[in-house]
Amino acid sequence: MNETPVLLERREGPYGEVALRARGADFEIIANGCFLMDTSDGQSERVLVTAALDALGDGAHGAHLLIGGLGVGFSLAQAAADPRPGRISVVEREAAVIAWHTEGDAPLARFAEGAHRDPRTTIVHDDLLDHLASTTERYDALALDIDNGPDWTVTQGNDGLYSEAGLDRMERVLNPGGVLAVWSAAHSPAFEARLRSRFARIGVVEVPVKVERGAPDVVYLASRL
Ligand SMILES: C[S@@+](CC[C@H](N)C(=O)[O-])C[C@H]1O[C@@H](n2cnc3c(N)ncnc32)[C@H](O)[C@@H]1O
Repeated sequence: MNETPVLLERREGPYGEVALRARGADFEIIANGCFLMDTSDGQSERVLVTAALDALGDGAHGAHLLIGGLGVGFSLAQAAADPRPGRISVVEREAAVIAWHTEGDAPLARFAEGAHRDPRTTIVHDDLLDHLASTTERYDALALDIDNGPDWTVTQGNDGLYSEAGLDRMERVLNPGGVLAVWSAAHSPAFEARLRSRFARIGVVEVPVKVERGAPDVVYLASRL
């Protein structure tokens, strides 16, 4: 992606400006000056979902899956392409991101491959941390990708997701036997240690990136007894 980015739209959000840019045939989302996501790859965002469902085993059939962060919609597309989940809830805090999928000519909709119209899908406009603290819903799998990783969050408040208190919130909404999957652009030994101290089974999946000599993306998996 060497092309010069072209600004398509920007909107004010609760955490500053959110911009949608085109770069050649691709799109990218920038929030408050921080790169969030682009449409150039998406492999690890899809693995996030399939690995979580696979870890559920037979429990994946009819499972309630929560996706944290809509982004360009690759994770949602993967979930909707899979017959196993019975319900797919997506929590996204930026109204602009939801609008780019659902309003007008919805420039990002095609990357979600029609998943918004899947009857199993619900998009919730909320902050993920607030949602985890307050929802009365219970989930079989959480597939969380709201930051560049536990050690590289897009806003300071998101740090709390990866702390002991954040893990308490996740465990509160996970059904017994449920699975937590967390995306990261790099290994996070401290986060992995926190997962190991409280979950029965841990998996660490590396997904190669398209960038030459780039470090692989990482998906942390943690299963609840
Ligand atoms: C890296 S993108 C998600 C990529 C997504 N997995 C995909 O396939 O395109 C991160 C998304 O999380 C959202 N986000 C960031 N912090 C959030 C929070 N605290 N609660 C909910 N959504 C958040 C961002 O606005 C952005 O849309």
